[in-house]
Amino acid sequence: MNYFKTLEESSYILRGANLNIESIRLINFRNYNNLNIELNDKMNIFIGKNAQGKTNLLESIYICATGKSFRTNRDREIINLNKEEAYIAAKVHANRMQRLIEIKMEKNKPKRIKINKIELKNLKELNSGLNVVIFSPDDMKLVKDGPGERRNFLDTSISQIKPVYRYNLNRYNKILLQRNNLLKSNKQKSNVVKLLDIFDLQLGKIGTEIIISRIKFLEKLSRISERIHKNLTLGNERLTLEYISNVNFIQGNRDYIERDFLKKLKLNRDKDLMMGNTGVGPHRDDIRININDIDARTYASQGQQRTIVLSMKLSEVEIIKLDKGSYPVLLLDDVFSELDEERRKHLTMSFKDMQTVITSTDIIDLKEFENIDKSIFYIKNGKLL
Ligand SMILES: Nc1ncnc2c1ncn2[C@@H]1O[C@H](COP(=O)(O)OP(=O)(O)O)[C@@H](O)[C@H]1O
Ligand SMILES: [Mg+2]
Repeated sequence: MNYFKTLEESSYILRGANLNIESIRLINFRNYNNLNIELNDKMNIFIGKNAQGKTNLLESIYICATGKSFRTNRDREIINLNKEEAYIAAKVHANRMQRLIEIKMEKNKPKRIKINKIELKNLKELNSGLNVVIFSPDDMKLVKDGPGERRNFLDTSISQIKPVYRYNLNRYNKILLQRNNLLKSNKQKSNVVKLLDIFDLQLGKIGTEIIISRIKFLEKLSRISERIHKNLTLGNERLTLEYISNVNFIQGNRDYIERDFLKKLKLNRDKDLMMGNTGVGPHRDDIRININDIDARTYASQGQQRTIVLSMKLSEVEIIKLDKGSYPVLLLDDVFSELDEERRKHLTMSFKDMQTVITSTDIIDLKEFENIDKSIFYIKNGKLL
């Protein structure tokens, strides 16, 4: 195996070529004791009854790409209940180049990540080259649930394209927590005011970066998903996505947004002190999802919601392709059999240049995939049959 000499070298070589997962190795990861699996470069279908490990497998792929789970923030949940440590590895390749991503999780210790045997100092460095987009039944929450779901979607999507975004977000959340603790404390008023001034300046600066990144991403997402959604609904529905913020950004450049954010923090300060938390800022923002200019959150039917989410996810795929020059691996968890024929056809067309990992509880009708190279696996109790 000829691994790269340096990560920079490999990043350069890998740009533009699709990065596919060649194999996955799992040890003591959730309900897998020891799994070694070779994946197809195109389509992979995992079939199994409930609670056999299908979503776990997708989760392991997601962790290799992003460094974190989409299901939990607590790494120890991921380690097999009867074991002390877990290991996940993915061998990925583009053309004939290879890269080995390894993650080791130990109880009560931070996880360790290696790429081509070189340990990363922190998650910020995780530039695995591997990108993923996942679509699961949980994503239906994106339309109907509270703003937190939609912010989370923005945050995870942007972080993948722009790792510094995750870094900014973590810093923002840390400062926000300190500010909120201060608001709740019984310190002397003059001291509180002095400290709040400092926190506000920091929040203003980083918060503005977050807002700007989200607006940019959402503009692209809205444009692309409008087109995809129009196709999926045979021209009947116009999907638009709008960033909603309590900070005024409409006519805004960076300075304008920062000034407005600082102004609002000042205006709200007495209320914040009373409530013991911070009422304005990107941590309160939202996306408005409209279908034909009507708010989808209140009016969209189940079927419409599913199509909206599908449009948003497929457009995320395209944004990654535009930004990185290569397609992400598409993970479809239990959603395929729920889609009608029109949407399946559309998905299948999008598949042809991508590696996909699909799970299903039922045998999938494969006539749409006749021309796609594929492997089918059966999973039972953390083992391949
Ligand atoms: N840390 C863990 N240790 C052992 N088993 C786990 C762990 N976390 C989850 N499981 C088991 O994994 C199974 C669920 O796997 P999942 O991939 O969600 O199933 P599905 O095939 O329905 O997608 C359950 O049986 C659950 O008990
Ligand atoms: Mg599942």
